Amino acid sequence: MKAGNKIGIMVCVSALIFGSAVGLKLAGEGTPPDAPAGYDTPTLSENPGSQSHGNGMLADADFGAAQGTFEEEDGVDKGLGPVYNARSCAECHQTPVTGGSSQIAEFRVGHNDRFGNFVSPTIFVKGGSIPNRSLVNDRATCADVQEHAPLTETIRTFRMSLSILGDGFVEAIDDDTLKALSASEKAMSGGRIAGEVIMVPIAESTSGQVRVGRFGWKDQQASLLSFAGDAYLNEQGITSALNPTDTTSICKTTPDIEDQEGDIDEFAAFMRGTKAPPVDGDLFASADAQAGQQIFSKVGCAICHVSSISTTSGTLTIGEYTVPDALKNKTIHPYGDFLLHNIGTGDGIVQNGPQDTANKLRTAPLWGLRTRDRFMHDGLSVTLPNAIGRHRNEASDVIKSYYKLSDRQKSQLLAFLNAL
Ligand code: HEC
Ligand code: HEC
Repeated sequence: MKAGNKIGIMVCVSALIFGSAVGLKLAGEGTPPDAPAGYDTPTLSENPGSQSHGNGMLADADFGAAQGTFEEEDGVDKGLGPVYNARSCAECHQTPVTGGSSQIAEFRVGHNDRFGNFVSPTIFVKGGSIPNRSLVNDRATCADVQEHAPLTETIRTFRMSLSILGDGFVEAIDDDTLKALSASEKAMSGGRIAGEVIMVPIAESTSGQVRVGRFGWKDQQASLLSFAGDAYLNEQGITSALNPTDTTSICKTTPDIEDQEGDIDEFAAFMRGTKAPPVDGDLFASADAQAGQQIFSKVGCAICHVSSISTTSGTLTIGEYTVPDALKNKTIHPYGDFLLHNIGTGDGIVQNGPQDTANKLRTAPLWGLRTRDRFMHDGLSVTLPNAIGRHRNEASDVIKSYYKLSDRQKSQLLAFLNAL
């Protein structure tokens, strides 16, 4: 079945590249059905008593309870801080529904050593120092521990909040499928484009499991539970069984493991249970958007912004989590490959990958694009033509073809992007 999957993708991607009159559905017989998609989960904290609907993995009541935990604002009594960025997951993962993205950016810094290798800084604060961490938290629970970018850290970048909607399906993609994508990109671009696959540890694994990284701008995680533990500590300053050591003890008043209720499991359950971001049906069906999609494929955007990927058909276990039937054998339309590329926008930061990932970023998945108003990892592009114009290096040939399009074709391409 795995081999079948690979072939499905190859056929689909190459059909798209060569731009014949191909729709998404021509990936061949046996393409699994589309994953459920929709923006129909009300914000429970604002609409108490309303029904929350997931992708079918969890019963509505369980999904709603998990969503409630994702929306819950934590205070110092629950372990917030001492350094943190926001009080709940939903504060940044918010629009248009809980789990989506937002304009909130995070701040990372570092420097290179004399061999050109990235080094995470030690950040000195009034009360002491916070070593070996590229994230600079924007908020603190007491003034003595407020972080600032040290003058020595010449690499500085912002990172936009990502959407987690549909990520249960992304987690359910086999490693082999992502590796096959990377190989097919190479084959289709004469080696110019080759998404990098990195293997990253699964924090909750007791047997040292590693998987192909797929979450975060740097593909730094491969499991939603690992990401949840990491985010609870780094965004909110709350320690858990997976991340038991706080960033700093300065101003800390709560016990070592602050997540006594197992909230990280609830975060993971919510994220796994969400529907995928849906296209805007009317806009997507318009003649301009349909023509724009053909152009998107023809000029080669779809080599990296891959339109269709299928989830596992076999048994897939990540830590103690086994992907349930509701997430298996589904096709998603992420318009991304979850692989790292150098398109000339690299932020110089290394996280879980090797040093050569410093100037690579994960292809931004374009699903849900119409719900965002600032683009690229740094959020510094506020129009789509500007975001497209920043693509270089691996994307040079594709961008050359883009610039050869007529004004009408460019506006059709935009109509397509605005429907996502
Ligand atoms: C201050 C804003 C903020 C808060 C609070 C926050 N996040 Fe995030 N989240 C981000 C940003 C920014 C990224 C991109 C990080 C990166 O890759 O550098 C992200 C990425 C993610 C991703 C990866 C999504 C993907 O598809 O790649 C997951 C999963 C995630 N966050 C889960 C959580 C959970 C769970 C919580 C609550 C414990 C949380 N986040 C709290 C800002 C936030
Ligand atoms: C070589 C791979 C590659 C190709 C080809 C490519 N992209 Fe991208 N694209 C990326 C990467 C990587 C990013 C993220 C870059 C960053 O954040 O700095 C990105 C980001 C974007 C974004 C910003 C999305 C967001 O949510 O911030 C848009 C829009 C986009 N690409 C459109 C296009 C279009 C249109 C084309 C074809 C003309 C194209 N891309 C070709 C890799 C590619």
